Amino acid sequence: MATPSIAFLGTGSYTPTRILSNQEISQLVETSDEWILTRTGIRERRIAAGTETTADMAAAAGKAALESAGLSPGDIDLVILATLTPDLPMPATACLVQQRLGIPSRAACFDVNAACTGFLYALDTAWGMLSSGRYRHALVIGAEKLSTVLDWKDRTTCVLFGDAAGAAVLGPARRESSGLIGTRLGSLPLPADLLWVPGGGSSPANLDDPRVIRMKGKEVFKVAVRAMEDVARDILEQHHVSADQIACVVPHQANLRIIEAIAHYLKLPMDRFYVNVDRYGNTSAASVPLALHEAQQAGRIRPGDLVLLVAFGAGLTYGGALVRW
Ligand code: UT7
Repeated sequence: MATPSIAFLGTGSYTPTRILSNQEISQLVETSDEWILTRTGIRERRIAAGTETTADMAAAAGKAALESAGLSPGDIDLVILATLTPDLPMPATACLVQQRLGIPSRAACFDVNAACTGFLYALDTAWGMLSSGRYRHALVIGAEKLSTVLDWKDRTTCVLFGDAAGAAVLGPARRESSGLIGTRLGSLPLPADLLWVPGGGSSPANLDDPRVIRMKGKEVFKVAVRAMEDVARDILEQHHVSADQIACVVPHQANLRIIEAIAHYLKLPMDRFYVNVDRYGNTSAASVPLALHEAQQAGRIRPGDLVLLVAFGAGLTYGGALVRW
């Protein structure tokens, strides 16, 4: 008997209730609603409460994804969580989510860090492990509390990011021909200081550096457009799919101008792209699963549709996934 495809069985998300508007940020740093909106497309972002952690947000998104899949925590035997803002250096935040949701002890639980491409790295890893037949249902989560790694005096970064979580349950396809078709991951070996958190790690060279995001925005912008365009083209070509067959592209939500540039190069109208950067800003590893969940809820993704996920992040990592919904 042929092995069934691995498909998205459910999705979920969680966003903190606190909304931080551009107007409010302009009281913290020298900026304006007009600058942020025209340069990035961001109107507002969510900020987690002081006591609310990445694991809390991840568990809420995971619970919603389980409900949407019609599965219970006992059905999950693999938890992969993508984040660059884990609750603790160890144990993995995936283990904290396992405890919060009551996922059984036979489940493998671990984190991955590929920055904003993290969810796609987690997805590809889960796909491989599920396809091996040794695991049946995976909970794959992207969650970030980026507000804890922002320099609220640096206007070039603090206006861009927000907190959120998105999740998906993957398992054997329930409908014929639905499931993951292909993935493509990579990492451009560029200098780390294009986009990094210099302090807080084990490098003795950076012991005194701050644990906040620093970025050379202009350079990252150019690389991001090229990397996401290239990975989209590669994956479409590899699977003999033309761009206009894609019903919905769910891109990493870093900057509306980046998404518009990709649409231009792929010769696709913007209405094929799901965009929520205006409401959440850049939520790194949470960005793609949050947008995917919303796109599905909004009826922008329907059974049988071809969906393309694309992302890039610090590293500079990049990734894409082609899915028959
Ligand atoms: O997930 C991966 C993450 N990163 C990204 O995807 C980010 C990629 N980069 C970007 O999205 C854009 O480069 C930014 C939004 C970060 C910046 O936009 P830009 O159009 O590339 O602006 P810029 O860096 O060239 O700055 C233009 C001007 C500068 O002033 P001068 O030198 O022209 O006088 C900046 O100092 O805008 C100034 N500026 C600001 N002004 C008001 C930079 N940040 C701000 C700000 N408010 N928040």
